[in-house]
Amino acid sequence: MSQDQLKQAVARAALEYIRPRLESDVIVGIGTGSTANYFIDELAQVKQFFDGAVASSEASADRLKSHGIPVYDLNSIDRLSVYVDGADESNGRLQLIKGGGAALTREKIVAAVAEEFVCIADESKWVDVLGAFALPVEVIPMARSHVGRALVALGADPIYRQGVTTDNGNIIIDCHGLHIHDPEKLESDINQIVGVVTNGLFARRPADVLLLGTTSGVEEKRVSSI
Ligand code: 5RP
Repeated sequence: MSQDQLKQAVARAALEYIRPRLESDVIVGIGTGSTANYFIDELAQVKQFFDGAVASSEASADRLKSHGIPVYDLNSIDRLSVYVDGADESNGRLQLIKGGGAALTREKIVAAVAEEFVCIADESKWVDVLGAFALPVEVIPMARSHVGRALVALGADPIYRQGVTTDNGNIIIDCHGLHIHDPEKLESDINQIVGVVTNGLFARRPADVLLLGTTSGVEEKRVSSI
């Protein structure tokens, strides 16, 4: 199976996973990226059974709207029972690197609000130690050089992502060369740098469940089951 077929398979599995809780007043949190896009396309088939969605990016909001799914402002809702999103890497504790699509800050906000975070990914994203995928950091533009120096002091090799502006009007610095053995600490340390909006480590709020697409089927992983 190709990587795209694995992404489609986990998107279908995610729909089956959340289907029992779809009701007329339910709002679904939606992530960003190609796997999340497959999930949006699956969700469109059952759009009559739930109220609408909250999106973690303008791109996902546009895709939801193109399917006729109402998109709500996060501030206008009282409760978000589930958030479905992809990842760039996951370790066995379901701690993630995210932000390959530059949507990490809104993704982290929606994940923080959601009662359950369902991560969907193909098996290439499953790692022992986070960091082979360069860790994205969203930065206020005027702080770029200052943050870059501070990231070097933390052991990273920071590279400015050319030509990318986030939905929040900021830049992305990708941190190469990391072997992240203490993800909670690094997440906090990077977030302490003045000028950082947030970083793509989802360690303090990991996924609750990971639907991992493998060539032998979709595996449902929880920290308690690993
Ligand atoms: C976007 C993200 C995505 O979830 C992550 O990059 C995975 O993308 P894809 O599903 O295309 O492999 O964090 O900011």
